[in-house]
Amino acid sequence: MSNVFEGKTVILGVTGGIACYKAAYLTSELVRSGADVHVIMTESACQFVQPLTFQTLSRNYVFTDTFDERDPQVVSHIDLADRADLVILAPATANIIGKLSSGIADDMLSTTLLATTAPVFIAPAMNGHMYEHPAVKRNLQTLESWGYHIIEPAEGMLACGYVGKGRLEEPHLILESVKRILSSGIKGNRDMKGIKVLVTAGATREKVDPVRFFTNRSTGKMGYAFAEAARDRGAEVILVSGKTSLEAPEGVELISVESAQEMYDAVMSRFDEMDVVVKAAAVADYRPAQVYGHKLKKGDGPLTIEMARTKDILKTLGERKKHQFLIGFAAESENVEENARRKIESKNADMIVANHILQDGAGFEGDTNIVTLFDRNGKICDLPMLSKRAVADRIWDEALSKGLGEGRL
Ligand code: CTP
Repeated sequence: MSNVFEGKTVILGVTGGIACYKAAYLTSELVRSGADVHVIMTESACQFVQPLTFQTLSRNYVFTDTFDERDPQVVSHIDLADRADLVILAPATANIIGKLSSGIADDMLSTTLLATTAPVFIAPAMNGHMYEHPAVKRNLQTLESWGYHIIEPAEGMLACGYVGKGRLEEPHLILESVKRILSSGIKGNRDMKGIKVLVTAGATREKVDPVRFFTNRSTGKMGYAFAEAARDRGAEVILVSGKTSLEAPEGVELISVESAQEMYDAVMSRFDEMDVVVKAAAVADYRPAQVYGHKLKKGDGPLTIEMARTKDILKTLGERKKHQFLIGFAAESENVEENARRKIESKNADMIVANHILQDGAGFEGDTNIVTLFDRNGKICDLPMLSKRAVADRIWDEALSKGLGEGRL
């Protein structure tokens, strides 16, 4: 792996925990790798280690106070935030995790964190019960869904005497994780600049009459995560979405549709200009053959509604594609691999994301997913349970490594 730290401006945020001393080793390793390291310490971190330790190791001034403006030419926290290529938060206490996930900016470190657009790596360290607290778990999940990278703590003897999960990951392993993620193309790298992406998301609605429709359980979260991840990586994104309760990500062109036919029309009208289409939407395979103009009245006996087939959007794209890369989904409750392989062939897709919809932590409604990726040569990999945003980023990584965007200007 090449030295990704060479010549990079790194902000190391150090917060108040006993593991602060390990941040000294991190500083020293980063400097040895050629990085320009700027340490920001919170007030509580200064209770554990003196700023002078970090100043000596980094050969840079250590910031502890937002109002300590050394250079009248710049506003320090904005200047540092803008110059940073990456930020590492180690050790990260429950407090800074809570502040960042709530948008609180009340000291030099928390203001810099809100002001930076560089990728941020968070290595938590705390007592095992604190780490398991629902508030901390929720905050970490929120940060992860926004694209922050969490480097999980290790298990073992904690300073408080407990044995459990909460020990700061070993510094060399923190640097390994950062290197691995940086090398795989991440938020902040804008590695999808110049790529035109169309994502479909959510469920379609197939009308029966003015008050009733057929639909399914899709919430649109997976598709929206794809759109957001692509936008953050610099792509131009169109989101063709069925009705959802989600807010459209800023900077993405939203086309709202209801039925499978409307989704088909919207996708086809923009397909030629696209480089990649992600079919994350759960499209109805059938619609009522007849749509009633007035509310259907009940009778005494059972009601039979005749259903007609909708058009298969992905299949049509597969038939028409020229240079486009097609990513389809396979929502499966059984024979996942067999069905995914069949769908990649029958729809002429380049990649299929198979969803194990009956597994806990996968499929509809939740914030996480468990998927297996397939390309035309077979299975690529099984991904562990990840936030939908992390799943989207991993799939973009795969698609880029398989040639997506190679023809871009
Ligand atoms: N799809 C589509 N148009 C349809 C139905 C499905 O574009 N009318 C797309 C979905 O968006 C998804 C992929 O095809 O990317 C597979 O969808 P899925 O519902 O898993 O499979 P089906 O094609 O409906 O096949 P089956 O009914 O055999 O599961």
